[in-house]
Formats: sequence, structure tokens, C-alpha cells
Amino acid sequence: MKKEDRLLRVGVLGCGPIAQFAHFEACRRARNAELYAICDRAADLVERMAVLHSPKATYTDYAAMLADPQVEAVVIATADAFHVPLTKQAIAAGKHVLVEKPMGVTVEECAELAALVKAGGLTLQVGYMKRFDPGLEFVHDFAQKGLGQRLAFKSCYHDSVYRYTMTDNLQVIPMASPQALRPEGNPKADKRRYFMLTHGSHLVDTARYLGGEIERVNARLVERFGAYCWYIAVDFADGSLGHLDLIVAVRGDWREDFQLEAEHGNAAGKIYLPWFHKTSEVEVFSTKDGLYRRPLGEDAHTYKRQMEGFADTILTDAPQRGANVDDGAEGVRILVAISQSVERGEPVRLADVTGGLA
Ligand SMILES: NC(=O)c1ccc[n+]([C@@H]2O[C@H](COP(=O)([O-])OP(=O)(O)OC[C@H]3O[C@@H](n4cnc5c(N)ncnc54)[C@H](O)[C@@H]3O)[C@@H](O)[C@H]2O)c1
Repeated sequence: MKKEDRLLRVGVLGCGPIAQFAHFEACRRARNAELYAICDRAADLVERMAVLHSPKATYTDYAAMLADPQVEAVVIATADAFHVPLTKQAIAAGKHVLVEKPMGVTVEECAELAALVKAGGLTLQVGYMKRFDPGLEFVHDFAQKGLGQRLAFKSCYHDSVYRYTMTDNLQVIPMASPQALRPEGNPKADKRRYFMLTHGSHLVDTARYLGGEIERVNARLVERFGAYCWYIAVDFADGSLGHLDLIVAVRGDWREDFQLEAEHGNAAGKIYLPWFHKTSEVEVFSTKDGLYRRPLGEDAHTYKRQMEGFADTILTDAPQRGANVDDGAEGVRILVAISQSVERGEPVRLADVTGGLA
């Protein structure tokens, strides 16, 4: 792996599954970052991960890692409920933050964090790694430049009952610890809430990334044979229409795709399970030259590329390509709006939303 001279010194908080599957490797593979430190309350995990990944420093106390002047940025790879408090602690210590999605769990905590980040001048990026899928980047850029007014955006995210069969073959075998720190209760017990936070967050961010700002949602949910299906009608702020659907889980293959219709052309794509590290197969058509375009996207390690983008923003002042604090806050606001729309059986305007998921 070719490394640049100046590497962002990153401390990863959390040695749980996502750090083991993605973040340790992402720091090690990134051309412009190094896995400087790792931290987890579970000492056994820290010890085992240190043997595998050789960070320069290890911690079981987050405050101690934040006090290390060599640590320039942290990755927060912990349970959702901890994201905002731990991010605030990092910002207070002067560290840049890459926080896993969703950025938080309530509208208010996200708004508070946004104010803090903007006042501080540090970089905050949310772990919506699909923004670093070369296919989706291509469609995003093309839609900004060459498609004119949008008319409609449609996308689906269908988790598969066979997902773990597939991912078990793609991911490293995770190591668990009884000492791991988890929020009170079981965040996975309320499935509506858990699925929306875990999967809905990606669906919504991709819709904003490709379709633009969302103003209002009207969501319906049906639960049958252990499957959950949300059909969400979306009003985009530019007046275009949208439809998003989330199913957890279909009795078939994983399916994630989108279609965008616009004034001067259209775009469509199929997004793969991220652990294949395979770019989305996208195609855009422009009426300006009558041509279809299809990028190869040979490097589609989205977790590595999101770390590279994060480090570029900090080290070179490159424009932030990843989701910023406003994107993080808006993503949570939409999830809350969807859940409230389902509860009330009526459309919900984002501007009226407060609190957390119903
Ligand atoms: N982007 C993606 O594709 C993707 C995929 C999976 C999970 N995630 C997100 O990643 C996050 C973490 O998921 P996970 O399954 O790895 O979580 P987890 O709860 O299983 O593991 C988190 C680890 O962090 C440690 N920890 C928590 N708070 C700590 C503290 N204050 N000090 C020290 N250690 C602390 C815990 O001990 C635990 O080992 C979630 O928000 C999830 O939504 C993202």
C-alpha cells in the first residue's frame, strides 16, 4: 500500500464489529492516514486488535486517548446512542471526528452538535461511506452539472434474509467481548426503530446525495411474517417527487437501486452490498450529446475512500466530499419524520419535527 509522507494520525474509538470489519483496515489502507491509536473499554478486545493491527498507542479510557496530543482525529465506532456525547467530547479536546451513522438519535442533540462543530472550525464527517462509492459519486457530480431540473427520484433498499450468509463469507471473523460497553437496554429490541436507524439512514442519505434536500415525507409501514416494509412518498425541496422503499428483509437477494429523472437526461444504478467493495453499476444518459456514460470505478473500498476523503479535508483543505454535520443532522431529522409519519398516518414536514424516533 502506497502511503503519502504526511499521514493523519487517527485514533479509533470502539473495537467492535464495524471497527474490525472496516475502520482499522481503512486507516491502514488509506494513502494519507495511519492507525495511530485504538481504544475500547473492553481491554481484551484492545489487546487482540493491537496484535492484529499494530497501532502506536492503545487505550481503554477514551479521555486518555483524547488527551494524547499525537491523536489528530478520532473515528467514533460505537453504538448510536453514544455518538453525540462522544463526538462532543472529541470536539472539546480539539480533535476532528469521523462518526458512524446515524450521527445521533434525536433532532435536538444533532442541532446542538451542529452548532458546536460550526463554532469550533474542526472537521466532522458522518460515516455515510456510500458517498465514496465511485458510481454514486459520478451520478452526484453529473446531476449537479449536467441534468438541469430534477423531476423524480426513486430508490429502494431491500435487506436480504441471506445477508449474514453472504457477509459472513466477506468479513473477517469478528471477536466479541463480555466487557464491551453497550447502551442501557437492548437497542435492537425495538425493530422498527433499529431498522430505521441502521438501514433507513443509508437509504435517506443516498436519496439526499442524489435527489437533493427533502421537505416532507408520507410513510406507510406494513409488518408481516417478521418482515418490515416502509413505502415513503417524498417531496423534495425543489418541487420534484420521490419514492423510497425500505424492506427488512426480503426473502430473496439484497437489492439496492435508484432512478433519477431530470430535464436533460436520467440516471439509474444498482448498488452492491458494501462488503463486496464493488462499485455501483450506474449509467447516466444526457440529451445534450445523446450518450450513455458508465464509470468503471475500479477502487470501490468505500470505507478506505471515506477515510482518505476525511484526511484530505483536514490535511489539504480539500472541499469536504463526505457527509458533514448538517447532512448528519438532516439525516436524523428525516428518520424521525418517517417514524412519526407512520405513527400518525399522515404526511410530516421536516421543519415541524422534534424529538427522536417514535
Ligand atoms: N457504515 C456502515 O456500513 C456500518 C455498518 C455497521 C455498523 N455501523 C455503525 O457502527 C456503529 C458501531 O457498531 P458496532 O456493531 O461495531 O457496535 P458495538 O456496540 O458492538 O461495538 C462498539 C464498541 O465500542 C466500545 N465503546 C463504546 N463506548 C465506549 C467508550 N465510551 N469508551 C470506550 N469504548 C467504548 C464498546 O465496548 C464496544 O466494544 C453503530 O452506530 C452502527 O450503526 C455502520
